[in-house]
Amino acid sequence: METGIKFVAIRSLSKALRIVGLKQYAWNIEHKSLFWLTNKKSQLMIDIIAEILNGGVVVEFGCGDGTLPLYLPEDGFSKYTGYDISSVAIQMCQKANRNPKVSFDTKGMESWEEHDAEKVDTIICEECLNYLDEPSLNRFLNVCCSNLKPDGQIFAAFHSRTKHARTIEQIRNSMNIVKEINQGQRIYMIVRCKTSAATVDGVDVPS
Ligand SMILES: C[S@@+](CC[C@H](N)C(=O)[O-])C[C@H]1O[C@@H](n2cnc3c(N)ncnc32)[C@H](O)[C@@H]1O
Repeated sequence: METGIKFVAIRSLSKALRIVGLKQYAWNIEHKSLFWLTNKKSQLMIDIIAEILNGGVVVEFGCGDGTLPLYLPEDGFSKYTGYDISSVAIQMCQKANRNPKVSFDTKGMESWEEHDAEKVDTIICEECLNYLDEPSLNRFLNVCCSNLKPDGQIFAAFHSRTKHARTIEQIRNSMNIVKEINQGQRIYMIVRCKTSAATVDGVDVPS
């Protein structure tokens, strides 16, 4: 089958599986097809993340191919944990990883729990919060706020402001916006929990 048609078929199948609740299975099919392997990181996004990192503990959800830490400054974090709902993606990440400060684990945003063990400095979510419905996103953001240090931040990226308007609006309503950067249809949001101080700052950059 031609690559383009194959991807459309896989995307349609996984979308249908997600609708009937078989999320992990759906994502495993997409990752097995290597659909997300060629997904290049935006330089602007990397620059924004590098600027907010403080050398502390980083957690990424929906880490996909697990390449984000390769783009980040070596002293930007003391520890990075990448989580993804797809066990296939996580196995590939674990196999490729050579950095002792970096680890990967299979975990859905829906099953992240509050913990006291090690508080987190930065939580990163690129193009994945949009897969949560309203109550699940609400729960996830609350768990993030419990697990973040008092001055901790969440970085959320969306590749389409139009498509993911509902999710973006929900984040705006429930979090303090530190900064929003628009690049064409993309939006990069740095947010803090309502309990922490924040300044509102909006920036438009050319796409
Ligand atoms: C659109 S891809 C984005 C991958 C990567 N963040 C990027 O931007 O290149 C969405 C990723 O989120 C993961 N994902 C989807 N739903 C998830 C959930 N509920 N919990 C954790 N990861 C999830 C998928 O397996 C996939 O790797």
